[in-house]
Amino acid sequence: MRHKIVAGNWKMHKNAEETEDLLNELIAKLPSDVAVEIIVAPTFVNLASAVDHLEFTNIDVAAQNMHQAESGAFTGEISADMLKNIGVNTVILGHSERRAYFHESDALLASKVNTALKHDMRVIFCFGEELKDRQAHQHFNIVENQLNDGLFHLETKDWVNIVLAYEPVWAIGTGETATPEQAQEMHHFIRETINAKYGGDVAEDVSILYGGSVKPDNAKEIFSKPDVDGGLIGGAALNSDHFAAIVNAI
Ligand code: 13P
Repeated sequence: MRHKIVAGNWKMHKNAEETEDLLNELIAKLPSDVAVEIIVAPTFVNLASAVDHLEFTNIDVAAQNMHQAESGAFTGEISADMLKNIGVNTVILGHSERRAYFHESDALLASKVNTALKHDMRVIFCFGEELKDRQAHQHFNIVENQLNDGLFHLETKDWVNIVLAYEPVWAIGTGETATPEQAQEMHHFIRETINAKYGGDVAEDVSILYGGSVKPDNAKEIFSKPDVDGGLIGGAALNSDHFAAIVNAI
């Protein structure tokens, strides 16, 4: 069901001690009575302790990636079963850094999505155009293709476990945010694209997050747009005051 979500993608930051410190700060500072789902995604090695630490809070834990195979000779990889087994029920897939640095294609991501759903996990599926695509006015085409190739093989029933995160690559970690109008324009296009493929119920029910240089001072305006259901936060999620301010901006 469509609802407000603020998720923090910690990327490759915070060792075990720092993770515990940041979680303690978040528990102290985040509101417990807000109608927004709060998620944090620490690194793999700190997921189990984060799940334990957050057990009696309203903060959920997500993984930043997983492998598509059930198990096997894939040195260095983590399976859906391993995540579920430690109480992680949500996984971020398709982040632009995975696409760019680890060469994850839409076809590979489609198979990761399938594996996650098979294990009853929820997927936060990331996508978004690069600067050159926007400059060439290809951003709508790129986003449509990413949705088509990564997700449009799914059945209607699968969409209850899909959250979308539109992250224009040119806005990630650059300090350059999409304007609230650019975010709304793209989120509206995404909902229309889903509507054309799956119909109005799926399109209206899916939560679409914006990611890319969301900060305390721009969050409120971005979140006020009708098709923006929250944010996937990078840098600002590493600072408890900033993350709490972003959650409170919803
Ligand atoms: P920044 O908020 O640091 O731009 O990162 C966004 C992001 O990549 C979240 O997944």
